[in-house]
Amino acid sequence: MDTTTLFRLDGRIALVTGGSRGIGKMIAAGFIAQGARVYISSRKADICEEAAKELGPNCIALPQDVSTVAGCKALAAQLAEHEERLDILVNNAGAAWGVPFEEFSEVGWDKVMDLNVKSPFFLTQALHGLLKVGGSAARPAKVINITSIDGQRLNPWETYSYHASKSALIYLTKRMAARLVRDHVNVTSIAPGAFPSDMNKAARDHGEAIARGIPAGRIGVDEDMAGAAIYLASRAGDYVIGETITVDGGLVHAALGTSIDAG
Ligand SMILES: NC(=O)c1ccc[n+]([C@@H]2O[C@H](COP(=O)([O-])OP(=O)(O)OC[C@H]3O[C@@H](n4cnc5c(N)ncnc54)[C@H](OP(=O)(O)O)[C@@H]3O)[C@@H](O)[C@H]2O)c1
Repeated sequence: MDTTTLFRLDGRIALVTGGSRGIGKMIAAGFIAQGARVYISSRKADICEEAAKELGPNCIALPQDVSTVAGCKALAAQLAEHEERLDILVNNAGAAWGVPFEEFSEVGWDKVMDLNVKSPFFLTQALHGLLKVGGSAARPAKVINITSIDGQRLNPWETYSYHASKSALIYLTKRMAARLVRDHVNVTSIAPGAFPSDMNKAARDHGEAIARGIPAGRIGVDEDMAGAAIYLASRAGDYVIGETITVDGGLVHAALGTSIDAG
């Protein structure tokens, strides 16, 4: 067994939505370090270009809004101008919305559901042809959905559509995996815990306080996220299908609950 190449991505072509910052950028950087050519996408073209420049010659910016089906199709067409196949798609772009129950609006519902649930489905559909060319029995293509521990357990915030969207995406991952496995396209997901980003300002600006509530005693860092994504994207993860890997320092699966003292 050659374990030196097990996690390599040499010659692989990847697309990471929301790759201009935060978790998407951590994943893009990891893939590039393992030898992949990585396309990153986000709405703000200048920031997307800047991030691609920072990530080096193997990173190409494809700015696009993927919250609509038309946007998903447009991004797939942009990619097809550059590549004849796609090996790895990371559906990472996501949005959150937190407002008290009484005031929660349709706008906050649709914005989150469109980007977090509709977009991963329709972008994968739009890229199905290129992914089928990328995948083979010996080397399946990969779709990795970035979900969240908020789809696995509750947090105190009133992020109704976000909770529902991430739970939906975990389940959608399994359903899409069941269909696409016969095309040699493996669908999986990563459920991150607290990683510093514009979305998770609490982890970014108050990391030490957040860390006190995490069994591992710290928030997530770039290597934690890149490591999980590289595993799923590379030969190492070829036999993992439909699964959600939780990367959260133990919040979901290793946190002690409370109990009523019956004594
Ligand atoms: N950070 C965490 O602790 C955490 C925890 C669990 C799950 N997650 C999940 O991880 C993913 C990334 O989150 P993050 O924390 O890195 O968030 P972030 O810092 O807000 O980054 C979001 C990325 O998505 C892009 N984006 C937003 N709306 C878009 C749209 N309509 N079309 C295309 N791109 C769009 C943003 O660029 P533009 O604004 O330029 O479009 C940006 O590149 C999300 O799915 C999130 O739910 C994060």
